[in-house]
Amino acid sequence: MNTKQTLLFVAACGLVVTGNLRAAEATANWTKHCFACHAADGSGSTRMGRQVGAKDYRDAKVQAEMKDEAALKAVKDGIQAKGKEVMKAYKDKLSEDEMKALIAHMRTFKK
Ligand code: HEC
Repeated sequence: MNTKQTLLFVAACGLVVTGNLRAAEATANWTKHCFACHAADGSGSTRMGRQVGAKDYRDAKVQAEMKDEAALKAVKDGIQAKGKEVMKAYKDKLSEDEMKALIAHMRTFKK
């Protein structure tokens, strides 16, 4: 490899590492903030998930119904159902980038 190729190679490695770090960070945030209701696999099969009616995000239909914009708004502002808060707002806890990474993480649940 010449110098230019070497530099390109190093830059490409950097991109791969950053991508993986972001994914790892999203998984950590998922476990910390979202797991209780949505479960590790997005199935919503935890006790709390069943109580609040979390959907099964492994289901292609549920994924298709979830729009990125609405999803981001839900994470920011929370969700109310029948006048009760079923999911709280995360805008004070997570940055916009972190929320987007979590939604990208949710997309990986699709079977
Ligand atoms: C206290 C339970 C609870 C927790 C914790 C929770 N959620 Fe939810 N979430 C729900 C419920 C209930 C719904 C509505 C039913 C559904 O879509 O699964 C929902 C829906 C969603 C939706 C769908 C919005 C749409 O437009 O379809 C997204 C996206 C989401 N949650 C992301 C998250 C993320 C990210 C976290 C962690 C930061 C999180 N949730 C934590 C209960 C929870």
